[in-house]
Amino acid sequence: MSVSKDLQKNVLILRAQIAHHNELYHGQDSPEISDAAFDDLLRKLKEIEAKYPELVEESSPSQIIGAGFTTFEPVTHRVPMTSLDNAMDSKELQAWGERLIKGLDSAAMQFACELKIDGLAMSIRYEDGLLVQAATRGDGKVGEDVTANILTINVVPKKLSSKTGKKIPSVLEVRGEVYMSIAAFQRLRDAKQIENEKRIIDGKKPETVPANPRNAGAGSLRQKNPAVTATRDLSFWAYQLGEVVGAPNFSSHTETFEFLRDLGFPINPEAKTVETLAQVVEFAATWEKNRHELNYEIDGVVVKLDDLAQREQLGFTARAPRWAIAVKFAPEERNTILKNISVSIGRTGRATPFAELEPVVLSGSTVSMATLHNREQVQFKDVRPGDTVIVRKAGDVIPEVVGPVLSLRPKNSKPWKFPTTCVCDLKSTFVQVEGESDTRCVEPECPFQRDQRIIHFASRGAMDIEGLGEKTVFALSDKNFVADIGDLYTLTIEKLLQLDGFAELSATNLLTAINNSKTRPLAKLLVGLGIKNLGPAASESLARRFGSLDAIIAAKSEQLSEIDGLGEVIANSITRWFKDKSHQAIIKKFRTAGVEFGNVVVSTSPQNLVGKAVVVTGTVEGFSREGAQEAITSRGGKSPGSVSAKTFALVVGSEPGVSKLTKAEQLNVPIINSADFLKLLETGELPK
Ligand code: IVH
Repeated sequence: MSVSKDLQKNVLILRAQIAHHNELYHGQDSPEISDAAFDDLLRKLKEIEAKYPELVEESSPSQIIGAGFTTFEPVTHRVPMTSLDNAMDSKELQAWGERLIKGLDSAAMQFACELKIDGLAMSIRYEDGLLVQAATRGDGKVGEDVTANILTINVVPKKLSSKTGKKIPSVLEVRGEVYMSIAAFQRLRDAKQIENEKRIIDGKKPETVPANPRNAGAGSLRQKNPAVTATRDLSFWAYQLGEVVGAPNFSSHTETFEFLRDLGFPINPEAKTVETLAQVVEFAATWEKNRHELNYEIDGVVVKLDDLAQREQLGFTARAPRWAIAVKFAPEERNTILKNISVSIGRTGRATPFAELEPVVLSGSTVSMATLHNREQVQFKDVRPGDTVIVRKAGDVIPEVVGPVLSLRPKNSKPWKFPTTCVCDLKSTFVQVEGESDTRCVEPECPFQRDQRIIHFASRGAMDIEGLGEKTVFALSDKNFVADIGDLYTLTIEKLLQLDGFAELSATNLLTAINNSKTRPLAKLLVGLGIKNLGPAASESLARRFGSLDAIIAAKSEQLSEIDGLGEVIANSITRWFKDKSHQAIIKKFRTAGVEFGNVVVSTSPQNLVGKAVVVTGTVEGFSREGAQEAITSRGGKSPGSVSAKTFALVVGSEPGVSKLTKAEQLNVPIINSADFLKLLETGELPK
């Protein structure tokens, strides 16, 4: 088969792109594309080369382990530091298993399963028990001498001694991964952020903030001044041996680990030996699900044959050992096009910029929008419509735009400007309060705010009107059927049937749900009004103390503020709300419709969490998301959405959010599991 000129050109372009990104990743620690995008390029090249072997050259990136570069002194690895082949799914893992069986005399195998730490491979050399050299992987043959920097890492032994009196080998090269924990990364990022704010005040350009712990770790290792590295709190897991002279003859990987542990090396505690590929698949699946429970980032698992004689028998390909494979997780970071930046208006008028993205699949779900938080964040990240951006969605955390890929920025792009007026038809001028990061629309008639207030009123934590979601609210408001929450009770079958997608049954169901909401407890009604600063816990206290909405309306601010946990600010906010003419009109509509104002369900729960804020992250066993929060508020406690120094405890369920966890760790907030949560609900105290 002859190869077309176009194809040859494509191959050259692909190789140049791969070399460029290799250099950015390994050489400069500032990758511009995600790992997944890089893997795609490499895959494309390999596919073409597999089809047209005549195109393969020794210098092709498919044949080389990394990129060569030298800024530190070069170190030639006595035993090469190879890479690993990847299995993208269980089918590819199965294929690997079959290759193993073919290559060995026996099908009896033990698999050492380890986490694939997303850090930097390091070879640390000891001579007569003393750390003499540490080198990066480089291109696998020649790395860089980073000894001075590695000496600053606390967990790396500087002088070996055996806890059980074993002889110290005359030469021992220990290989493993240097990484930055998520907590250390967040500390570094916070510090950089403050530094940059100062730089901006001083009229200097802000420095780039590392996008993730891996880049931060790499940057820290590449410091010319080890004193800087020393401040970065790097860590290390050992997972393999390089050159060894004078050590016992190990017969298995497990034995190697025991030896390394005995000499004081950190061995990852999650490593596990199993007997079947099915168990390997299970190990990978478990960790893909639980990856965010760790205080460091992983991007897959590594599976190695445990038996060293079997390893010997299988040997290496040009690139990687045949006896090991990496099972990669679905990527959490990918590149995509930022089509546009829009602003959404919340029920209190807060204007939140968000990115409209070319859809990408991240952590198993399609992402087409991501919040950009506020005006400053957009400025800081300098993301612009038309940019290729790195998008990240870690587990169940909200998708985030990490930053732009500058090399792919369109030529005439300009920084995005925050609109000066609200995006609604009224075009009222946006207001930014001094010292606040929020920009607001302060026009109470703003239709976006109005829609959001109705959505909030119907939500689970408030009047819980099933079937009245965002889409229906927008449709109702489009037709001018509802101008405020009071109008919901004037809806008729005839009106609902005019909405797209509504038929007799769905319309009747919605009307029934609206009708049922009339008897909700007073506390829920109070939450539904959307009074500034008034949350579920204070609403519960108010309902219990005053017994009816009319009594609350009649109460003076001073009377309201006597309630535990309510304070002057909320009390004033409540009286102000009821003084507003348009709100009085809503109350009137409720009264006409027969909404109950005095349904005080006395909770049978003990009021043992009054004044305590308990934050929940992830799904707590035996509770729905709202259920766990409700259990807290019904006991008089608060359950805010984020951790602060005032948080009494953080309850961690499955798939928790990393930011809450690390924040709690930083602030020394007690972190408790589901079992302890039950005890907390029972006693109001943290179990000892
Ligand atoms: S073993 C010959 N074990 O993944 C075997 N590598 O894609 C060499 N990595 O360069 C590697 N965790 O930087 C091994 N538990 C682990 C690992 C691990 C992370 C990295 C390492 C390696 C890369 C290969």
